[in-house]
Amino acid sequence: MTIQWYPGHMAKAKRQMIEKMKQIDVVIELADSRIPVSSRNPLVQEIAGEKPRLLILNKIDMADRRATYQWQSYFHERGLAVHLVNSRTGQGASSIPEVVHRLTRERRKKLEEKGFRAHADRALILGIPNVGKSTLINRLAGKKIAKIGDRPGVTTAQQWIKVGKTMELLDTPGILWPKFDSPEIGLRLAATGAIKETLMDYQEVAVFLLKIMLRHYRDQLAARYDLDTLPELSGDPEDHEKIVRLFDEIGKNRGCLMSGGRIDYDRTAETIVRDYRSLKLGGLTLEWPSIEHSSGSM
Ligand code: G4P
Repeated sequence: MTIQWYPGHMAKAKRQMIEKMKQIDVVIELADSRIPVSSRNPLVQEIAGEKPRLLILNKIDMADRRATYQWQSYFHERGLAVHLVNSRTGQGASSIPEVVHRLTRERRKKLEEKGFRAHADRALILGIPNVGKSTLINRLAGKKIAKIGDRPGVTTAQQWIKVGKTMELLDTPGILWPKFDSPEIGLRLAATGAIKETLMDYQEVAVFLLKIMLRHYRDQLAARYDLDTLPELSGDPEDHEKIVRLFDEIGKNRGCLMSGGRIDYDRTAETIVRDYRSLKLGGLTLEWPSIEHSSGSM
């Protein structure tokens, strides 16, 4: 699924996307609603330059609705157009041309003042692997377009797809690389499936998910794994012991045992991560608007 990104790939992808911008009126940036900041690559701003941008928070069905609304306000307050979508069902997708059309008003006005008639709004979808770019393009195209695979940049053979009366969309997305600015970001990307399975340590990701659930989603955690009591984390070294005991209990309750009845930690960890990804724990958001996100580029 995910390609390996090397400096050469990145430079080439960036060049291709900047070149592509000459044909583009609006950049649609796709992010994962569960990790609206960690699933973005700040390079979008540089690639888009002065072109209007629309941030789409996709997979809203997989996120915590309350958190998604907080994120929507957060981006909105910072002057970034934001739209919520579930590309799998199409929720929010049909109004994308209308939202995009609002963003091109200035461009159209300028052209009309010069006596020209503006062409349709030409849009490109950009985003890191696995955020749902192909799913959204297929949804907007109303048919299945060929899956290009995660090759860097924008691949060459491409066509414009007419979407509604006012929008034309490139049928191949721009593929950006995930940014690993901190271990936390890496864990969020791993938990949501944005990075290769072979590159991640399931136990580390499962511990990360358990800590988030212990803080924000206690009921879902207790219900899924039949847990009568849950530990309170305090930020002390004892937290480690508490997490190990929780792992033991989950492993036992889910039957992740090795011969002799010992808990199979690898299987327990995989179970937790897979349960998260397949929504068995419910829609859980893994980051929230906070001080840590209050600075930096939009
Ligand atoms: P990409 O082009 O950005 O790499 O992502 P892609 O469309 O391939 O989507 C990655 C996975 O995310 C796919 O699941 C896709 O179905 C799923 N997905 C995309 N948008 C949404 C959404 O809004 N909600 C939910 N729940 N899932 C979404 P997959 O299991 O990898 O593939 P498939 O079995 O669905 O084909």
